[in-house]
Amino acid sequence: MKTYATSKDINSHIGTLRNEGKTIGFVPTMGALHKGHLSLVELCKKDCDITVVSIFVNPTQFNDKGDLQRYPHMPETDSKLLEEAGCGILFLPGEQEIYPKPDTRVFDFGQLDKVMEGVHRPGHFNGVAQVVSRLFNIITPDKAFFGLKDFQQLAIIREMVKQLQFRVEIIAVPIVRDTDGLALSSRNMLLNEAQRKMAPLIAKTLFEAQKKAAKLSVSVVKQWVIDTVNRSSELSVEYFDIVDSLSLQPVQSWDDAGQIFGCIAVRVGNIRLIDNVRLS
Ligand code: PAF
Repeated sequence: MKTYATSKDINSHIGTLRNEGKTIGFVPTMGALHKGHLSLVELCKKDCDITVVSIFVNPTQFNDKGDLQRYPHMPETDSKLLEEAGCGILFLPGEQEIYPKPDTRVFDFGQLDKVMEGVHRPGHFNGVAQVVSRLFNIITPDKAFFGLKDFQQLAIIREMVKQLQFRVEIIAVPIVRDTDGLALSSRNMLLNEAQRKMAPLIAKTLFEAQKKAAKLSVSVVKQWVIDTVNRSSELSVEYFDIVDSLSLQPVQSWDDAGQIFGCIAVRVGNIRLIDNVRLS
């Protein structure tokens, strides 16, 4: 695996590979890698000749500075994991490399960021769009791989790709879960023992909700999920929305959209976990 720290060097190496006719696959990450990230790498390797992974903890997408400070940094362990996973190229830039000057672009995502994470993390998706567009310009991938756990992020990135006319195919990769159902997340390692024990209730409740969706109304299922998760002393639901998978707008009935997802954010102490399931 080759590791690059500068845009100029990685861009020039990728240019050479492209001239040789190689297809470039890209997995952007913020590090603290887990099996969810490795599933993106695995799929990227199957689909593309060259797999590029970036690790950059992007400050512009953190609306909560405490969250940024707590975010785990472990570049050496990550690098080893990627090497073992057969990643071809690692991009490990510093902040100056990504933002030589402050990125003042303001994106307009219409209604897509007026719900869920967009409401609870103001500015978050603008920061995600800033960094991902910057990385796409440097890496120039043919395909880029994103986890479905960040359901709203995927919709935002697809919209950004459309607006900025990137020629990249966005591939959505299913959520990877721990044996007890908890969706894998870099933030899971910040949970204490009691919190980690209770956290699987989130996924368990979402899977129960899938069954209930066949029999009960949208509003009843929504309230049931919120009440069930909130019953745990360690968990507090920030939102649970039942939404059209494309517009991300809340639905009133199961007939309101082709695919309907339930998306949840839960506070566990000062850690925030998100998850989602298809409900209809
Ligand atoms: O999903 C993430 O880890 C981040 O939001 C991303 C896409 C790497 C941008 O910083």
